[in-house]
Amino acid sequence: MSRRQLVVDATTELIAAPPRLADDLFVVRAAVGDPGHLKAGLASAGAALRRVLMVPRQGAYAVTASLDGSRNFNRYDVEDLIGTLLGGAYHSRRDGSTPPAERSEWRVVLDGKTMWVALRPYDVPLHRRAWRQRTVVGSLHPPVAAAMARLAGLAAGQLVLDPFCGAGTVLLEAHAVQPRAAYLGSDLSSAAITAAQVNSAGTADVRWRVGDAARLSGPVDRILTNPPWDVRIGIGDLTPYQRQWRRVLRPDGLLVAILNHAQAAQLATAPGWRVRGVYDVAVAGRHPRIVVAARRPAR
Ligand SMILES: C[S@@+](CC[C@H](N)C(=O)[O-])C[C@H]1O[C@@H](n2cnc3c(N)ncnc32)[C@H](O)[C@@H]1O
Repeated sequence: MSRRQLVVDATTELIAAPPRLADDLFVVRAAVGDPGHLKAGLASAGAALRRVLMVPRQGAYAVTASLDGSRNFNRYDVEDLIGTLLGGAYHSRRDGSTPPAERSEWRVVLDGKTMWVALRPYDVPLHRRAWRQRTVVGSLHPPVAAAMARLAGLAAGQLVLDPFCGAGTVLLEAHAVQPRAAYLGSDLSSAAITAAQVNSAGTADVRWRVGDAARLSGPVDRILTNPPWDVRIGIGDLTPYQRQWRRVLRPDGLLVAILNHAQAAQLATAPGWRVRGVYDVAVAGRHPRIVVAARRPAR
């Protein structure tokens, strides 16, 4: 494990059915020591790679490099080095041009210890979902929604509610994790509900309706939700919504919500809830928290 990357032994099963929580997956084709911060080190790493990097037959391709720490070279120097080693139809990003859509993608990571050179075995990044045709303002990154679904311990036969469903990301990812539960999403905005309907076309057991999160009906087994984080345009005080969630959630139910820090703190101190877990995430330049909470029994 290094910053933002996890290196695991590959299996054909992993590549055929990749985890929905991963942003992307690459197969490591070569690894040499991190070149350090000097250009001379980068040249030596290039020489070491030339000995071990097997060049596959491939059409157009691009390379994306990410570097930890300060260096006397930049990402384009690394990308072009790999492009030179691999040869063929390399598309450099140095001049700011967009690579052709039909291409394979190499990834190079310099994490301070190792220089990883890897190739994506798919046509598109893993976080790009086939179901996602529409988004709304604030739509969630699908792997984060998949993580919320995992934390919810979904089981067949459950009824799962998202009262701030937007374009449906959370429930559609949950459905992919547990197709044998039933899902109900509601949102104040009819445009959001239309987006969710488009996104879920052909998905059974997922229903949508226009509705105010301040007026819910239950009972439900799980609430998975992503209320607006921005206090100016969204919800500053979660208290009335928390009361609704508690009212409709079955006694053995679970709430999994992705909240800003103030909202998470409000839930942690609310008398009707027992927080079971808090997970800090970084998404779209924000730092919300996934909070898993159960109902505290009434005294
Ligand atoms: C952060 S977005 C949800 C995004 C969604 N998870 C997705 O990926 O598309 C919050 C949603 O809450 C909805 N909303 C705001 N106030 C609401 C309310 N009182 N009742 C129901 N929905 C509300 C907004 O219309 C918006 O679609």
